[in-house]
Amino acid sequence: MSILTRTGPHPRVTGVAAERQRRPERRRRVPDVATSAQQPPHREVVRRELAAYAHRIRLGDLVRAHGSPLLLLDADRVVAQLRELRRELPGVGIHFATKSLPHPAVIDAVHSSGASFEVASRGEVDLLERHAVPVGGCLHTHPVKTVADITSAYLRGIRTFVVDSPSEIGKFAGLPCGDVGVLVRLSFPNPGAKSDLSSKFGVAPEDAPALVERCLAARLPVRGFTFHVGSQTTSAEPWRRAIATTLQLMRALEARHGIRFELLDLGGGFPVAYDEPVPPLGELARGIRSSLAAVPSHVRVVVEPGRFVAAPAMTLVTRVIGTSDRADGRWHYLDEGLYGAYSNIPAEDVHALVFAATELGVEPAGDDAAERAMRRVITRTRVPVTLAGPTCDSVDVVARRLPLPPLADGDLLVSPMMGAYTWATATGFNGIPPTPVVVLPRA
Ligand SMILES: Cc1ncc(COP(=O)(O)O)c(C=O)c1O
Repeated sequence: MSILTRTGPHPRVTGVAAERQRRPERRRRVPDVATSAQQPPHREVVRRELAAYAHRIRLGDLVRAHGSPLLLLDADRVVAQLRELRRELPGVGIHFATKSLPHPAVIDAVHSSGASFEVASRGEVDLLERHAVPVGGCLHTHPVKTVADITSAYLRGIRTFVVDSPSEIGKFAGLPCGDVGVLVRLSFPNPGAKSDLSSKFGVAPEDAPALVERCLAARLPVRGFTFHVGSQTTSAEPWRRAIATTLQLMRALEARHGIRFELLDLGGGFPVAYDEPVPPLGELARGIRSSLAAVPSHVRVVVEPGRFVAAPAMTLVTRVIGTSDRADGRWHYLDEGLYGAYSNIPAEDVHALVFAATELGVEPAGDDAAERAMRRVITRTRVPVTLAGPTCDSVDVVARRLPLPPLADGDLLVSPMMGAYTWATATGFNGIPPTPVVVLPRA
């Protein structure tokens, strides 16, 4: 008899494309020529914050010193985001999702702030070890691993892994009994998230009892459950539903098998504001906290935030390297694109805001007084332009019909919120080297 009843459809489609097709089409703004007074309020709020930030970190000087494109990494922001998570989710352990921004400065900031890590590959474990992180406390969350991956992680001290299918269980056979435990990854579809991770990984809650029984039969302890409600989730509801279902499952399995689970892993998914505002973490956390009130005291709760911690930590500076007037209007070609740090656009359908440096009060190099006065005038007008990346590939387009002040070759553009799944997922396509990262001095 099934412990859980199916409460709704659990689509078993595979592939990101299938997932995307099911996602409701988002209406995108197609702005036309506009004045700054007509800019969307969110953009104006971000512009003011970014202008103050650019002034504080002396963005113009950094570009003069290091050139473009350039990613500015601010580890203080990593610490601030972790602090906010701790404040809003007190008592919840944090395992930073290393994959989102596996940069040494981020690893040091996360480690020194007392948080741990979520890892998914040997390379990530190697990286943490190189930075003197005691990896024993990390969670290895990849549901599909080779025996060599498991053995290597085990030998470095990792003791908690994730499974979501029977074929994975046998891979732990050679390891000492009782020393290693697993979390069962559950799948909770969330078409509202930017990246719904539920079709590639996770077992349906109603199929989880059978998987737990197979683990127990193989003498592989099940420490608890993990799920990911989808990246960039903007409501507490998916977490609330997932927590309620998981707690129901835990209670039933504890009673049936006379075992005690010790861990409930709520995954990542906490959102940041790109081109649209998102609810503040406090609002989501309030909903999550009220669901966590039902967690028994012997169960520890953890989260695996990636984007929320990493995205605000990097600011991208890119430059116009060419301009053409085409049938559909003016095109500016940048020294950064979809195969570089803007890789989050095709991979995740997230769109960081793009500002002309002049909108932020950052003066172009070699500016003289007359040119500065001219720029103050032209920054009040907006022209819809296409921004294209530097490769020969025609899909390499960052934005279309984006209203910006008139630009010329050499002008700088700035995108905030560029830390998560950007530098980490950039390619070297067309022989274009990775964008250098400059680590800002800590406050
Ligand atoms: C297992 C796991 N945990 C955590 C994360 C981080 O998710 P996010 O960046 O949405 O917080 C991911 C992202 O893919 C993941 O796969």
